Amino acid sequence: MNFSTDLVHSILSRTVATEARSTALMAHCDPEISKLCRSVLEQNGWDVHESPDGFAVIQHCQRDCPDIVLLDMELPKLSGLETTKKLRSSPITEDIPILVLGKEGDDSGASASLEAGADIYLRKPITAEEFALQVRSLSRLQRTCHKLQKGRSSLGEQARALSLLLDFSAALSKMDNLDAILNKMISVTAEMTSCRRVSIMLPDATGQYLNIAASTGIENYVKENVRLGVGESIAGRVFIAGSPILLNNQDDADRELETRDHRLFDDLPLLSTPMCASENVVGVLNLTDRVESKPFDTLELGYLSLFTNYAAAAIQNARTREARDQARDSIVIAMAKLAEHRDDDTGKHLDRVTLYCIKLATELRGNPLYASQINAKFLQNLERAAPLHDIGKVAIPDSILLKPDKLTDSEMAIMQTHSRIGAETIRSVLDKSPDSGFLKMAEEIAHSHHEWYNGSGYPQGLEGENIPLAARILALADVYDALTTKRVYKNAFSHRKSVEIILKESGTHFDPDVVKAFMRLETEFERLAKELADDPPLSPADPGMEKYIPREMQLSPIERTLSQISLS
Ligand code: C2E
Ligand code: SIN
Ligand code: SIN
Ligand code: FE
Repeated sequence: MNFSTDLVHSILSRTVATEARSTALMAHCDPEISKLCRSVLEQNGWDVHESPDGFAVIQHCQRDCPDIVLLDMELPKLSGLETTKKLRSSPITEDIPILVLGKEGDDSGASASLEAGADIYLRKPITAEEFALQVRSLSRLQRTCHKLQKGRSSLGEQARALSLLLDFSAALSKMDNLDAILNKMISVTAEMTSCRRVSIMLPDATGQYLNIAASTGIENYVKENVRLGVGESIAGRVFIAGSPILLNNQDDADRELETRDHRLFDDLPLLSTPMCASENVVGVLNLTDRVESKPFDTLELGYLSLFTNYAAAAIQNARTREARDQARDSIVIAMAKLAEHRDDDTGKHLDRVTLYCIKLATELRGNPLYASQINAKFLQNLERAAPLHDIGKVAIPDSILLKPDKLTDSEMAIMQTHSRIGAETIRSVLDKSPDSGFLKMAEEIAHSHHEWYNGSGYPQGLEGENIPLAARILALADVYDALTTKRVYKNAFSHRKSVEIILKESGTHFDPDVVKAFMRLETEFERLAKELADDPPLSPADPGMEKYIPREMQLSPIERTLSQISLS
Protein backbone atom coordinates (compact mmCIF):
# COMPACT_ATOMS: atom_id res chain seq x y z
CA MET A 1 0.00 0.00 0.00
CA ASN A 2 1.38 3.30 -1.03
CA PHE A 3 1.37 5.67 1.91
CA SER A 4 2.63 9.20 1.36
CA THR A 5 2.24 10.81 4.76
CA ASP A 6 3.11 14.33 3.71
CA LEU A 7 0.68 14.46 0.88
CA VAL A 8 -2.09 13.03 2.99
CA HIS A 9 -1.30 15.46 5.76
CA SER A 10 -1.37 18.43 3.48
CA ILE A 11 -4.73 17.38 2.14
CA LEU A 12 -6.32 16.73 5.49
CA SER A 13 -4.91 19.69 7.35
CA ARG A 14 -7.15 21.83 5.19
CA THR A 15 -10.06 19.60 5.98
CA VAL A 16 -10.17 19.45 9.71
CA ALA A 17 -12.57 21.82 11.31
CA THR A 18 -10.73 24.50 13.20
CA GLU A 19 -13.16 24.93 16.10
CA ALA A 20 -13.87 21.36 17.12
CA ARG A 21 -12.27 18.05 16.30
CA SER A 22 -14.10 16.12 13.63
CA THR A 23 -15.16 12.60 14.45
CA ALA A 24 -15.31 9.54 12.25
CA LEU A 25 -17.08 6.29 12.95
CA MET A 26 -15.78 3.17 11.22
CA ALA A 27 -17.03 -0.37 10.81
CA HIS A 28 -14.67 -2.51 8.82
CA CYS A 29 -14.15 -6.21 8.77
CA ASP A 30 -10.70 -5.84 7.28
CA PRO A 31 -8.19 -4.88 10.02
CA GLU A 32 -5.71 -3.64 7.40
CA ILE A 33 -8.23 -1.14 6.06
CA SER A 34 -9.24 -0.08 9.54
CA LYS A 35 -5.63 0.58 10.40
CA LEU A 36 -5.07 2.61 7.25
CA CYS A 37 -8.13 4.77 7.70
CA ARG A 38 -7.52 5.29 11.37
CA SER A 39 -3.94 6.40 10.86
CA VAL A 40 -4.82 8.78 8.02
CA LEU A 41 -7.57 10.37 10.05
CA GLU A 42 -5.79 10.49 13.40
CA GLN A 43 -2.64 11.97 11.97
CA ASN A 44 -4.78 14.83 10.85
CA GLY A 45 -6.57 15.54 14.04
CA TRP A 46 -9.68 13.43 13.71
CA ASP A 47 -11.20 11.44 16.53
CA VAL A 48 -11.87 7.90 15.34
CA HIS A 49 -14.40 5.48 16.81
CA GLU A 50 -15.02 1.93 15.71
CA SER A 51 -18.14 -0.17 15.81
CA PRO A 52 -18.16 -3.98 15.41
CA ASP A 53 -21.28 -4.16 13.22
CA GLY A 54 -24.08 -2.30 11.45
CA PHE A 55 -26.40 -2.25 14.45
CA ALA A 56 -23.71 -0.79 16.63
CA VAL A 57 -23.12 1.92 14.01
CA ILE A 58 -26.77 2.93 14.05
CA GLN A 59 -26.91 2.98 17.83
CA HIS A 60 -23.79 5.08 18.03
CA CYS A 61 -25.06 7.57 15.45
CA GLN A 62 -28.33 8.04 17.22
CA ARG A 63 -26.52 8.81 20.42
CA ASP A 64 -23.74 10.88 18.99
CA CYS A 65 -23.62 12.06 15.37
CA PRO A 66 -20.13 11.63 13.85
CA ASP A 67 -18.95 13.88 11.05
CA ILE A 68 -18.48 10.87 8.79
CA VAL A 69 -19.32 7.18 8.76
CA LEU A 70 -17.07 4.65 7.00
CA LEU A 71 -18.69 1.31 6.29
CA ASP A 72 -17.54 -1.92 4.83
CA MET A 73 -19.99 -3.37 2.32
CA GLU A 74 -19.93 -6.63 4.27
CA LEU A 75 -20.57 -6.28 7.97
CA PRO A 76 -21.81 -8.75 10.58
CA LYS A 77 -25.50 -8.57 11.58
CA LEU A 78 -26.43 -5.74 9.22
CA SER A 79 -24.76 -5.19 5.85
CA GLY A 80 -23.18 -1.89 4.88
CA LEU A 81 -26.04 -1.24 2.48
CA GLU A 82 -28.73 -1.99 5.06
CA THR A 83 -26.95 0.16 7.60
CA THR A 84 -26.78 3.00 5.09
CA LYS A 85 -30.50 2.73 4.39
CA LYS A 86 -31.33 2.74 8.10
CA LEU A 87 -29.17 5.79 8.75
CA ARG A 88 -30.84 7.62 5.88
CA SER A 89 -34.33 6.82 7.13
CA SER A 90 -34.04 8.47 10.54
CA PRO A 91 -34.25 12.29 10.81
CA ILE A 92 -31.48 12.26 13.41
CA THR A 93 -28.95 10.46 11.21
CA GLU A 94 -30.11 11.19 7.67
CA ASP A 95 -27.53 13.89 6.98
CA ILE A 96 -24.37 12.09 8.11
CA PRO A 97 -21.94 11.64 5.19
CA ILE A 98 -21.43 7.94 4.46
CA LEU A 99 -18.51 6.36 2.68
CA VAL A 100 -18.95 2.74 1.64
CA LEU A 101 -16.04 0.47 0.90
CA GLY A 102 -16.70 -2.34 -1.56
CA LYS A 103 -15.00 -5.62 -2.33
CA GLU A 104 -12.35 -5.74 -4.96
CA GLY A 105 -13.97 -6.20 -8.37
CA ASP A 106 -17.51 -5.57 -7.12
CA ASP A 107 -18.89 -3.46 -9.94
CA SER A 108 -22.54 -3.53 -8.92
CA GLY A 109 -21.63 -2.23 -5.44
CA ALA A 110 -21.36 1.36 -6.60
CA SER A 111 -24.88 1.75 -7.89
CA ALA A 112 -26.34 -0.25 -4.99
CA SER A 113 -24.51 1.96 -2.47
CA LEU A 114 -25.57 5.17 -4.10
CA GLU A 115 -29.13 3.92 -4.28
CA ALA A 116 -29.04 3.07 -0.58
CA GLY A 117 -27.98 6.66 0.09
CA ALA A 118 -24.20 6.51 0.42
CA ASP A 119 -22.23 9.59 -0.59
CA ILE A 120 -19.08 7.87 -1.72
CA TYR A 121 -18.25 4.36 -2.89
CA LEU A 122 -14.65 3.23 -2.88
CA ARG A 123 -13.49 -0.14 -4.07
CA LYS A 124 -10.61 -2.00 -2.51
CA PRO A 125 -7.75 -1.69 -2.73
CA ILE A 126 -7.65 1.95 -1.63
CA THR A 127 -4.70 4.26 -1.26
CA ALA A 128 -4.26 6.67 1.59
CA GLU A 129 -4.25 9.62 -0.79
CA GLU A 130 -7.42 8.52 -2.50
CA PHE A 131 -9.07 8.01 0.87
CA ALA A 132 -7.88 11.38 2.20
CA LEU A 133 -9.19 13.19 -0.87
CA GLN A 134 -12.60 11.63 -0.57
CA VAL A 135 -12.85 12.41 3.13
CA ARG A 136 -11.86 15.97 2.45
CA SER A 137 -14.48 16.59 -0.18
CA LEU A 138 -17.11 14.98 2.01
CA SER A 139 -16.33 16.94 5.10
CA ARG A 140 -15.99 20.18 3.17
CA LEU A 141 -19.42 19.65 1.74
CA GLN A 142 -20.74 19.02 5.19
CA ARG A 143 -19.17 22.12 6.65
CA THR A 144 -20.62 24.27 3.92
CA CYS A 145 -24.02 22.79 4.63
CA HIS A 146 -23.66 23.49 8.33
CA LYS A 147 -22.62 27.04 7.69
CA LEU A 148 -25.49 27.54 5.31
CA GLN A 149 -27.98 26.07 7.70
CA LYS A 150 -26.66 28.07 10.59
CA GLY A 151 -26.61 31.25 8.54
CA ARG A 152 -30.04 30.59 7.21
CA SER A 153 -31.54 29.85 10.57
CA SER A 154 -30.09 32.89 12.30
CA LEU A 155 -31.00 35.09 9.37
CA GLY A 156 -34.42 33.49 9.45
CA GLU A 157 -34.80 34.24 13.12
CA GLN A 158 -33.78 37.85 12.65
CA ALA A 159 -36.07 38.35 9.72
CA ARG A 160 -38.89 36.66 11.56
CA ALA A 161 -38.41 38.71 14.72
CA LEU A 162 -38.21 41.88 12.67
CA SER A 163 -41.29 41.18 10.64
CA LEU A 164 -43.20 40.28 13.80
CA LEU A 165 -42.15 43.55 15.38
CA LEU A 166 -43.21 45.51 12.31
CA ASP A 167 -46.48 43.65 12.22
CA PHE A 168 -46.99 44.40 15.90
CA SER A 169 -46.30 48.10 15.58
CA ALA A 170 -48.59 48.38 12.57
CA ALA A 171 -51.32 46.54 14.45
CA LEU A 172 -50.81 48.75 17.49
CA SER A 173 -51.50 51.92 15.59
CA LYS A 174 -54.93 50.53 14.79
CA MET A 175 -55.72 49.39 18.30
CA ASP A 176 -57.34 51.61 20.84
CA ASN A 177 -57.92 49.30 23.74
CA LEU A 178 -55.65 47.60 26.19
CA ASP A 179 -57.08 44.09 25.75
CA ALA A 180 -56.46 44.12 22.02
CA ILE A 181 -52.88 45.28 22.56
CA LEU A 182 -52.20 42.67 25.24
CA ASN A 183 -53.64 39.86 23.17
CA LYS A 184 -51.62 40.89 20.16
CA MET A 185 -48.51 40.94 22.32
CA ILE A 186 -49.22 37.45 23.57
CA SER A 187 -49.64 36.03 20.09
CA VAL A 188 -46.56 37.78 18.72
CA THR A 189 -44.41 36.66 21.66
CA ALA A 190 -45.65 33.10 21.43
CA GLU A 191 -44.81 33.00 17.76
CA MET A 192 -41.46 34.71 18.13
CA THR A 193 -40.25 32.37 20.88
CA SER A 194 -42.15 29.16 20.11
CA CYS A 195 -43.42 29.20 23.68
CA ARG A 196 -46.83 27.69 24.26
CA ARG A 197 -47.43 29.20 27.67
CA VAL A 198 -47.19 32.98 27.67
CA SER A 199 -48.70 35.46 30.08
CA ILE A 200 -48.62 39.16 30.80
CA MET A 201 -49.12 40.18 34.41
CA LEU A 202 -50.12 43.70 35.28
CA PRO A 203 -50.47 45.28 38.70
CA ASP A 204 -54.00 45.82 40.01
CA ALA A 205 -55.37 49.20 41.07
CA THR A 206 -53.60 49.02 44.44
CA GLY A 207 -50.23 48.32 42.83
CA GLN A 208 -49.75 45.57 45.44
CA TYR A 209 -50.72 42.54 43.39
CA LEU A 210 -50.09 41.22 39.91
CA ASN A 211 -52.90 39.60 37.93
CA ILE A 212 -52.78 37.81 34.60
CA ALA A 213 -54.07 40.37 32.14
CA ALA A 214 -53.67 38.24 29.03
CA SER A 215 -52.31 34.80 28.28
CA THR A 216 -52.18 31.80 26.06
CA GLY A 217 -51.84 28.16 27.10
CA ILE A 218 -52.87 28.89 30.68
CA GLU A 219 -55.91 27.23 32.17
CA ASN A 220 -58.78 29.58 32.90
CA TYR A 221 -58.94 28.83 36.60
CA VAL A 222 -55.25 29.64 36.94
CA LYS A 223 -55.66 32.77 34.88
CA GLU A 224 -58.48 34.01 37.05
CA ASN A 225 -57.05 33.03 40.41
CA VAL A 226 -53.38 33.90 40.25
CA ARG A 227 -52.87 36.96 42.37
CA LEU A 228 -49.23 37.45 43.09
CA GLY A 229 -47.98 39.85 45.74
CA VAL A 230 -45.48 42.26 44.29
CA GLY A 231 -42.04 40.89 45.26
CA GLU A 232 -43.45 37.39 45.63
CA SER A 233 -42.42 34.40 43.54
CA ILE A 234 -40.64 34.81 40.22
CA ALA A 235 -42.86 37.29 38.40
CA GLY A 236 -43.37 39.35 41.54
CA ARG A 237 -39.63 39.69 42.03
CA VAL A 238 -39.05 40.54 38.40
CA PHE A 239 -41.63 43.29 38.75
CA ILE A 240 -39.87 44.82 41.76
CA ALA A 241 -36.30 44.40 40.57
CA GLY A 242 -36.95 45.38 36.97
CA SER A 243 -34.58 42.69 35.76
CA PRO A 244 -35.39 39.37 34.13
CA ILE A 245 -35.14 35.89 35.62
CA LEU A 246 -34.08 33.22 33.17
CA LEU A 247 -34.00 29.55 34.10
CA ASN A 248 -32.62 27.60 31.18
CA ASN A 249 -31.90 24.31 32.93
CA GLN A 250 -32.47 22.26 36.04
CA ASP A 251 -29.47 23.73 37.86
CA ASP A 252 -30.83 27.23 37.43
CA ALA A 253 -34.23 25.99 38.49
CA ASP A 254 -33.00 24.31 41.67
CA ARG A 255 -31.64 27.60 42.90
CA GLU A 256 -35.03 29.25 42.45
CA LEU A 257 -37.10 26.33 43.59
CA GLU A 258 -38.71 27.89 46.64
CA THR A 259 -39.82 30.95 44.78
CA ARG A 260 -40.94 29.20 41.64
CA ASP A 261 -44.66 29.38 41.02
CA HIS A 262 -45.75 26.05 39.58
CA ARG A 263 -49.11 27.38 38.53
CA LEU A 264 -47.34 29.63 36.05
CA PHE A 265 -44.16 27.74 35.35
CA ASP A 266 -44.19 23.97 35.27
CA ASP A 267 -41.57 23.53 32.60
CA LEU A 268 -38.08 24.66 31.63
CA PRO A 269 -36.72 26.81 30.16
CA LEU A 270 -38.67 29.68 31.59
CA LEU A 271 -38.23 33.40 31.29
CA SER A 272 -39.88 36.12 33.31
CA THR A 273 -38.99 39.56 32.04
CA PRO A 274 -40.00 43.07 33.08
CA MET A 275 -41.84 45.34 30.69
CA CYS A 276 -40.31 48.75 31.14
CA ALA A 277 -41.59 52.05 29.85
CA SER A 278 -39.54 55.14 30.63
CA GLU A 279 -37.99 53.67 33.78
CA ASN A 280 -41.33 52.32 35.04
CA VAL A 281 -41.99 48.63 35.22
CA VAL A 282 -45.42 48.40 33.65
CA GLY A 283 -45.82 44.64 33.94
CA VAL A 284 -44.15 41.26 33.56
CA LEU A 285 -44.00 38.94 30.59
CA ASN A 286 -43.72 35.23 31.40
CA LEU A 287 -42.68 32.59 28.88
CA THR A 288 -42.43 28.85 29.21
CA ASP A 289 -43.41 25.49 27.69
CA ARG A 290 -41.09 26.03 24.81
CA VAL A 291 -41.20 23.80 21.76
CA GLU A 292 -38.38 21.24 22.14
CA SER A 293 -37.44 22.94 25.44
CA LYS A 294 -34.82 24.95 23.57
CA PRO A 295 -32.86 27.25 25.93
CA PHE A 296 -33.18 30.99 25.32
CA ASP A 297 -30.08 32.40 23.65
CA THR A 298 -28.60 35.88 23.84
CA LEU A 299 -29.86 36.98 20.46
CA GLU A 300 -33.41 36.07 21.39
CA LEU A 301 -33.18 37.76 24.75
CA GLY A 302 -32.10 40.89 22.88
CA TYR A 303 -35.14 40.80 20.60
CA LEU A 304 -37.40 40.06 23.50
CA SER A 305 -36.24 42.98 25.58
CA LEU A 306 -36.57 45.30 22.57
CA PHE A 307 -40.05 44.00 22.04
CA THR A 308 -41.23 44.03 25.66
CA ASN A 309 -40.09 47.59 26.19
CA TYR A 310 -41.80 48.71 23.04
CA ALA A 311 -44.90 46.88 24.17
CA ALA A 312 -44.66 48.41 27.63
CA ALA A 313 -44.76 51.89 26.16
CA ALA A 314 -47.82 50.86 24.17
CA ILE A 315 -49.50 49.50 27.29
CA GLN A 316 -48.78 52.65 29.21
CA ASN A 317 -50.21 54.78 26.41
CA ALA A 318 -53.26 52.57 26.14
CA ARG A 319 -53.83 52.71 29.87
CA THR A 320 -53.61 56.46 29.97
CA ARG A 321 -55.80 56.65 26.92
CA GLU A 322 -58.24 54.19 28.39
CA ALA A 323 -58.45 55.96 31.73
CA ARG A 324 -58.91 59.23 29.91
CA ASP A 325 -61.57 57.77 27.64
CA GLN A 326 -63.37 56.28 30.59
CA ALA A 327 -63.35 59.58 32.41
CA ARG A 328 -64.52 61.35 29.31
CA ASP A 329 -67.32 58.83 28.78
CA SER A 330 -68.36 59.03 32.41
CA ILE A 331 -68.59 62.77 32.23
CA VAL A 332 -70.74 62.68 29.14
CA ILE A 333 -73.02 60.12 30.76
CA ALA A 334 -73.17 62.21 33.91
CA MET A 335 -74.17 65.21 31.82
CA ALA A 336 -76.99 63.16 30.32
CA LYS A 337 -78.15 62.09 33.77
CA LEU A 338 -78.19 65.67 34.96
CA ALA A 339 -80.07 66.77 31.86
CA GLU A 340 -82.61 64.04 32.43
CA HIS A 341 -83.34 65.26 35.92
CA ARG A 342 -85.30 68.18 34.66
CA ASP A 343 -88.21 66.07 33.45
CA ASP A 344 -87.50 62.81 35.23
CA ASP A 345 -87.27 62.95 39.01
CA THR A 346 -85.92 59.50 39.46
CA GLY A 347 -83.63 59.15 36.47
CA LYS A 348 -84.86 55.61 36.08
CA HIS A 349 -86.06 56.32 32.55
CA LEU A 350 -82.46 56.08 31.33
CA ASP A 351 -81.83 52.81 33.15
CA ARG A 352 -84.96 51.26 31.71
CA VAL A 353 -84.40 52.46 28.16
CA THR A 354 -80.81 51.23 28.30
CA LEU A 355 -81.86 47.82 29.55
CA TYR A 356 -84.64 47.54 26.94
CA CYS A 357 -82.12 48.38 24.23
CA ILE A 358 -79.72 45.67 25.38
CA LYS A 359 -82.55 43.12 25.53
CA LEU A 360 -83.73 44.02 22.04
CA ALA A 361 -80.23 44.01 20.56
CA THR A 362 -79.37 40.68 22.16
CA GLU A 363 -82.58 39.18 20.78
CA LEU A 364 -81.93 40.63 17.31
CA ARG A 365 -78.53 38.99 17.35
CA GLY A 366 -80.32 35.67 16.88
CA ASN A 367 -81.33 36.93 13.43
CA PRO A 368 -78.49 36.11 10.98
CA LEU A 369 -79.06 39.46 9.31
CA TYR A 370 -77.77 41.25 12.43
CA ALA A 371 -75.54 38.61 14.00
CA SER A 372 -72.28 40.10 12.74
CA GLN A 373 -73.14 43.75 13.41
CA ILE A 374 -74.41 43.17 16.93
CA ASN A 375 -71.17 41.88 18.44
CA ALA A 376 -69.87 42.31 21.98
CA LYS A 377 -68.48 45.74 21.16
CA PHE A 378 -71.82 46.86 19.74
CA LEU A 379 -73.59 45.81 22.94
CA GLN A 380 -70.98 47.50 25.10
CA ASN A 381 -71.23 50.72 23.09
CA LEU A 382 -75.00 50.55 23.14
CA GLU A 383 -75.12 50.20 26.90
CA ARG A 384 -73.08 53.35 27.32
CA ALA A 385 -74.56 55.30 24.41
CA ALA A 386 -78.25 54.69 25.08
CA PRO A 387 -78.43 56.97 28.14
CA LEU A 388 -77.27 59.87 25.96
CA HIS A 389 -80.17 59.80 23.52
CA ASP A 390 -81.98 62.83 24.94
CA ILE A 391 -78.94 64.85 26.00
CA GLY A 392 -80.10 67.63 23.65
CA LYS A 393 -83.00 68.31 25.98
CA VAL A 394 -80.62 70.45 28.07
CA ALA A 395 -81.27 73.19 25.54
CA ILE A 396 -85.06 73.01 25.74
CA PRO A 397 -86.62 75.69 27.97
CA ASP A 398 -88.57 74.57 31.05
CA SER A 399 -91.71 76.18 29.70
CA ILE A 400 -91.79 73.61 26.94
CA LEU A 401 -90.10 70.61 28.50
CA LEU A 402 -92.20 70.70 31.65
CA LYS A 403 -95.47 71.87 30.08
CA PRO A 404 -98.24 69.70 31.53
CA ASP A 405 -100.36 70.02 28.38
CA LYS A 406 -100.12 69.18 24.77
CA LEU A 407 -97.44 71.18 22.95
CA THR A 408 -98.40 73.64 20.23
CA ASP A 409 -96.88 73.15 16.76
CA SER A 410 -94.21 75.79 17.33
CA GLU A 411 -93.40 74.39 20.77
CA MET A 412 -93.13 70.93 19.25
CA ALA A 413 -90.76 72.29 16.59
CA ILE A 414 -88.50 73.61 19.34
CA MET A 415 -88.84 70.35 21.26
CA GLN A 416 -87.73 68.45 18.18
CA THR A 417 -84.46 70.34 17.99
CA HIS A 418 -83.23 68.17 20.90
CA SER A 419 -82.15 65.48 18.40
CA ARG A 420 -79.92 67.80 16.44
CA ILE A 421 -78.58 69.60 19.51
CA GLY A 422 -77.78 66.29 21.20
CA ALA A 423 -75.91 65.04 18.15
CA GLU A 424 -73.96 68.29 17.94
CA THR A 425 -73.04 68.14 21.62
CA ILE A 426 -71.71 64.63 21.31
CA ARG A 427 -69.92 65.46 18.06
CA SER A 428 -68.04 68.26 19.80
CA VAL A 429 -66.61 65.71 22.24
CA LEU A 430 -66.10 63.19 19.47
CA ASP A 431 -63.95 65.65 17.52
CA LYS A 432 -61.39 65.39 20.31
CA SER A 433 -61.42 61.63 20.40
CA PRO A 434 -62.46 60.42 16.95
CA ASP A 435 -61.69 56.81 17.82
CA SER A 436 -64.43 56.36 20.39
CA GLY A 437 -66.91 53.82 19.06
CA PHE A 438 -69.18 54.56 21.95
CA LEU A 439 -69.39 58.28 21.18
CA LYS A 440 -69.97 57.58 17.48
CA MET A 441 -72.89 55.39 18.36
CA ALA A 442 -74.12 57.94 20.89
CA GLU A 443 -74.13 60.56 18.18
CA GLU A 444 -76.14 58.35 15.85
CA ILE A 445 -78.64 57.56 18.56
CA ALA A 446 -79.07 61.15 19.71
CA HIS A 447 -79.47 62.30 16.14
CA SER A 448 -81.79 59.59 14.82
CA HIS A 449 -83.88 58.18 17.65
CA HIS A 450 -86.97 60.05 16.45
CA GLU A 451 -86.64 58.98 12.83
CA TRP A 452 -89.44 56.78 11.57
CA TYR A 453 -88.90 53.63 9.54
CA ASN A 454 -91.17 55.00 6.77
CA GLY A 455 -89.20 58.25 6.53
CA SER A 456 -91.72 60.53 8.24
CA GLY A 457 -89.72 61.14 11.42
CA TYR A 458 -87.30 63.93 12.37
CA PRO A 459 -84.79 65.62 12.09
CA GLN A 460 -83.68 64.28 8.72
CA GLY A 461 -86.56 62.10 7.53
CA LEU A 462 -84.22 59.12 7.18
CA GLU A 463 -85.83 55.92 5.99
CA GLY A 464 -85.42 52.21 6.70
CA GLU A 465 -81.85 50.95 6.88
CA ASN A 466 -80.58 54.52 6.50
CA ILE A 467 -81.51 54.96 10.12
CA PRO A 468 -78.59 53.56 12.13
CA LEU A 469 -79.45 50.20 13.71
CA ALA A 470 -78.78 51.42 17.26
CA ALA A 471 -81.21 54.31 16.71
CA ARG A 472 -83.89 51.95 15.35
CA ILE A 473 -83.51 49.83 18.46
CA LEU A 474 -83.56 52.78 20.80
CA ALA A 475 -86.64 54.27 19.13
CA LEU A 476 -88.73 51.31 20.21
CA ALA A 477 -87.22 51.12 23.70
CA ASP A 478 -87.77 54.87 24.19
CA VAL A 479 -91.41 54.83 23.07
CA TYR A 480 -92.24 51.69 25.06
CA ASP A 481 -90.99 53.50 28.15
CA ALA A 482 -92.74 56.76 27.26
CA LEU A 483 -96.01 54.82 26.80
CA THR A 484 -95.86 52.69 29.93
CA THR A 485 -94.85 55.49 32.31
CA LYS A 486 -96.42 58.71 33.43
CA ARG A 487 -95.05 61.91 31.84
CA VAL A 488 -95.75 65.53 32.77
CA TYR A 489 -97.99 65.69 29.73
CA LYS A 490 -99.56 62.19 29.83
CA ASN A 491 -100.61 59.29 32.01
CA ALA A 492 -99.21 55.79 31.81
CA PHE A 493 -100.73 53.27 29.45
CA SER A 494 -101.00 49.63 30.42
CA HIS A 495 -98.44 47.21 29.05
CA ARG A 496 -101.14 45.63 26.86
CA LYS A 497 -102.19 48.96 25.37
CA SER A 498 -98.54 49.94 24.79
CA VAL A 499 -97.83 46.68 22.96
CA GLU A 500 -100.88 47.30 20.77
CA ILE A 501 -99.66 50.78 19.83
CA ILE A 502 -96.18 49.49 19.00
CA LEU A 503 -97.53 46.60 16.91
CA LYS A 504 -99.71 48.99 14.97
CA GLU A 505 -96.70 51.16 14.20
CA SER A 506 -94.54 48.31 12.93
CA GLY A 507 -93.22 49.28 9.48
CA THR A 508 -94.39 52.89 9.84
CA HIS A 509 -92.67 54.17 12.97
CA PHE A 510 -90.62 51.09 13.84
CA ASP A 511 -88.34 48.64 12.06
CA PRO A 512 -90.47 45.47 11.73
CA ASP A 513 -87.49 43.29 12.72
CA VAL A 514 -87.09 45.23 15.95
CA VAL A 515 -90.81 44.90 16.61
CA LYS A 516 -90.57 41.13 16.05
CA ALA A 517 -87.75 40.93 18.57
CA PHE A 518 -89.83 43.02 20.97
CA MET A 519 -92.82 40.72 20.60
CA ARG A 520 -90.69 37.72 21.53
CA LEU A 521 -89.55 39.55 24.66
CA GLU A 522 -92.86 41.16 25.42
CA THR A 523 -93.53 39.41 28.76
CA GLU A 524 -89.99 40.13 29.91
CA PHE A 525 -90.50 43.83 29.13
CA GLU A 526 -93.68 43.80 31.21
CA ARG A 527 -91.82 42.33 34.15
CA LEU A 528 -88.86 44.75 33.80
CA ALA A 529 -91.20 47.73 33.55
CA LYS A 530 -92.67 46.76 36.93
CA GLU A 531 -89.32 46.00 38.56
CA LEU A 532 -87.77 49.27 37.42
CA ALA A 533 -90.82 51.44 38.03
CA ASP A 534 -90.18 54.97 39.28
CA ASP A 535 -90.02 55.51 43.03
CA PRO A 536 -92.60 57.92 44.43
CA PRO A 537 -91.32 61.45 43.77
CA LEU A 538 -89.34 63.06 46.56
CA SER A 539 -89.61 66.61 47.76
CA PRO A 540 -86.47 68.74 47.20
CA ALA A 541 -86.03 69.03 50.99
CA ASP A 542 -85.75 65.29 51.30
CA PRO A 543 -82.17 64.39 52.32
CA GLY A 544 -82.56 61.33 50.08
CA MET A 545 -81.92 63.69 47.14
CA GLU A 546 -78.26 62.88 47.52
CA LYS A 547 -78.90 59.50 46.10
CA TYR A 548 -79.65 61.12 42.78
CA ILE A 549 -76.08 62.07 42.19
CA PRO A 550 -75.47 59.76 39.29
CA ARG A 551 -73.01 56.97 39.74
CA GLU A 552 -70.96 58.37 36.90
CA MET A 553 -70.43 61.65 38.73
CA GLN A 554 -68.50 59.85 41.42
CA LEU A 555 -65.12 59.95 39.73
CA SER A 556 -61.95 58.73 41.34
CA PRO A 557 -59.23 61.40 41.80
CA ILE A 558 -57.25 60.00 38.87
CA GLU A 559 -60.30 60.11 36.64
CA ARG A 560 -60.98 63.68 37.65
CA THR A 561 -57.43 64.70 36.81
CA LEU A 562 -57.46 62.88 33.51
CA SER A 563 -60.85 64.27 32.55
CA GLN A 564 -59.51 67.76 33.03
CA ILE A 565 -56.73 66.97 30.62
CA SER A 566 -58.97 65.46 27.99
CA LEU A 567 -61.89 67.86 28.17
CA SER A 568 -60.04 71.12 28.58
P1 C2E B 1 -90.85 61.36 25.49
O1 C2E B 1 -91.89 61.75 26.46
O2 C2E B 1 -89.66 60.60 26.02
O3 C2E B 1 -91.50 60.52 24.33
C1 C2E B 1 -90.75 59.84 23.39
C2 C2E B 1 -91.58 59.35 22.25
O4 C2E B 1 -92.56 58.42 22.72
C3 C2E B 1 -92.37 60.41 21.56
O5 C2E B 1 -91.60 61.11 20.66
C4 C2E B 1 -93.45 59.58 20.88
O6 C2E B 1 -92.94 59.03 19.69
C5 C2E B 1 -93.68 58.46 21.88
N1 C2E B 1 -94.88 58.81 22.67
C6 C2E B 1 -94.93 59.44 23.83
N2 C2E B 1 -96.20 59.55 24.27
C7 C2E B 1 -96.98 58.95 23.34
C8 C2E B 1 -98.37 58.70 23.20
O7 C2E B 1 -99.18 59.07 24.03
N3 C2E B 1 -98.82 58.03 22.10
C9 C2E B 1 -97.95 57.62 21.13
N4 C2E B 1 -98.45 56.98 20.07
N5 C2E B 1 -96.60 57.83 21.22
C10 C2E B 1 -96.14 58.47 22.32
P2 C2E B 1 -92.09 62.59 20.21
O8 C2E B 1 -93.50 62.64 20.00
O9 C2E B 1 -91.17 62.97 19.10
O10 C2E B 1 -91.75 63.46 21.46
C11 C2E B 1 -90.45 63.76 21.85
C12 C2E B 1 -90.45 64.38 23.19
O11 C2E B 1 -91.16 65.62 23.14
C13 C2E B 1 -91.13 63.57 24.26
O12 C2E B 1 -90.25 62.64 24.79
C14 C2E B 1 -91.52 64.65 25.26
O13 C2E B 1 -90.43 65.03 26.04
C15 C2E B 1 -91.85 65.81 24.34
N6 C2E B 1 -93.31 65.86 24.07
C16 C2E B 1 -93.98 65.27 23.05
N7 C2E B 1 -95.29 65.59 23.14
C17 C2E B 1 -95.44 66.38 24.22
C18 C2E B 1 -96.57 67.05 24.82
O14 C2E B 1 -97.72 66.97 24.36
N8 C2E B 1 -96.35 67.80 25.93
C19 C2E B 1 -95.10 67.90 26.46
N9 C2E B 1 -94.94 68.65 27.55
N10 C2E B 1 -94.01 67.32 25.92
C20 C2E B 1 -94.19 66.55 24.82
C1 SIN C 1 -75.22 52.36 32.04
O1 SIN C 1 -74.81 51.33 32.61
O2 SIN C 1 -74.46 53.24 31.64
C2 SIN C 1 -76.70 52.55 31.88
C3 SIN C 1 -77.42 52.63 33.16
C4 SIN C 1 -76.97 53.75 34.04
O3 SIN C 1 -76.32 54.68 33.57
O4 SIN C 1 -77.26 53.71 35.24
C1 SIN D 1 -77.41 67.90 12.09
O1 SIN D 1 -78.35 67.63 12.82
O2 SIN D 1 -76.27 67.91 12.52
C2 SIN D 1 -77.65 68.20 10.64
C3 SIN D 1 -78.99 68.76 10.38
C4 SIN D 1 -80.01 67.71 10.50
O3 SIN D 1 -80.18 66.93 9.54
O4 SIN D 1 -80.63 67.59 11.56
FE1 FE E 1 -85.92 62.05 22.38
